[in-house]
Amino acid sequence: MVGLFAGIGGLELGLGVHGWSTELLCEIDSGARAVLSAHFPDVEVHQDVTRLRALPTGTELVAAGFPCQDLSQAGRTAGITGTRSGLVDEVFRLVRRRRGPRWLLIENVPFMLQLGRGQAMRHITSALEGLGYMWAYRVVDARAFGLPQRRLRVLMLASRTEDPRPVLFGADAGPHDIGDPRIDPCGFYWTEGVRGLGWAVNAVPTLKGGSGLGIASPPAVRLPSGEIVTPGIVDAERLQGFSRDWTAPALAAPGVRPGHRWKLVGNAVSVRMATWVGGRLADPSGDVVLEEQDALSGQRWPTAAWGRAGTAYRVPVSTWPIHAPYEDLRWFLEDAQLLSARATAGFLRRAGRGTLRFPPGFLADVQNHLLRMGGSPREAA
Ligand SMILES: C[S@@+](CC[C@H](N)C(=O)[O-])C[C@H]1O[C@@H](n2cnc3c(N)ncnc32)[C@H](O)[C@@H]1O
Repeated sequence: MVGLFAGIGGLELGLGVHGWSTELLCEIDSGARAVLSAHFPDVEVHQDVTRLRALPTGTELVAAGFPCQDLSQAGRTAGITGTRSGLVDEVFRLVRRRRGPRWLLIENVPFMLQLGRGQAMRHITSALEGLGYMWAYRVVDARAFGLPQRRLRVLMLASRTEDPRPVLFGADAGPHDIGDPRIDPCGFYWTEGVRGLGWAVNAVPTLKGGSGLGIASPPAVRLPSGEIVTPGIVDAERLQGFSRDWTAPALAAPGVRPGHRWKLVGNAVSVRMATWVGGRLADPSGDVVLEEQDALSGQRWPTAAWGRAGTAYRVPVSTWPIHAPYEDLRWFLEDAQLLSARATAGFLRRAGRGTLRFPPGFLADVQNHLLRMGGSPREAA
């Protein structure tokens, strides 16, 4: 396989569990390249997709989690024609050549489905269809694979010779309620408090890439004791399915600051999500519910669909393909630190100004935490 926009290798690591061997990686960020070289020492690592002339002969799978800056809710919504997200066209250029790979696997943020009123998706699907591909995609939640992180991602699989539908839709375990806020740790974004909170029971909200300046944006966790902690980078790596210190080699690259590791981890594909795809490619068994009357019309792209040659169909599956044994968030807080009085006071100030509604008892816990940390209620006013 070949990994384009490989980041820190989440897709390659997960697919590798099922025997996919990476022949070529491509990644422009020097910190991420240092991580890839450390963990895939025998693999050639290219820098810029736009300068990659061709795929190695015999490439069976191309994985591409193209940049989501222009696509993600957090970023500018310039759309697929913005220069960065236009990089997806580089993927199409590369697979068009020669025989082409058997599989193309694309990963991205769910906001891609809404972008430009569906225009971004129309661009991608029509490019694929123009190349003779059948495509299928599904939004999946990392919690389905047992990771205590609420992280929804679009997985899209396309092929000219194979049917991607059993792979993506053949397993469905249905939505699942996780945890109890009275007895389980709850994740939230302490940097928020006005527009959203990112509240998640026995999970952290989606780990984010943070700013391009290498400023970390870790979430916080309210423990059942009422204390508030922020996970460390090693915890974040594990919450994405990587081993401890997976991104430490990034620090050896010139100019890379420690906070950059948060960006690398936040941008990555959860390893277990990729492992699940690898398992499905190896054994795509299971029933697929396909209803021909569900042809897509209008501008809304559902959470799962497939298409070819100009028609697309919705697929009634959930974002939980399986219910893997769930791992408690407490086990992922080895490197956590108490949220500082300053950060806690800042959060309370924002919460006081906004109109957001909070879960029962939550603000009282935050106020108590502030006192415990030596802050005064005046700071939060
Ligand atoms: C959403 S991330 C993909 C993360 C990856 N799948 C992982 O598991 O870590 C997109 C990546 O594309 C990289 N990128 C952006 N422009 C690129 C280019 N022209 N050539 C190669 N990589 C590029 C970014 O540095 C970023 O790491």
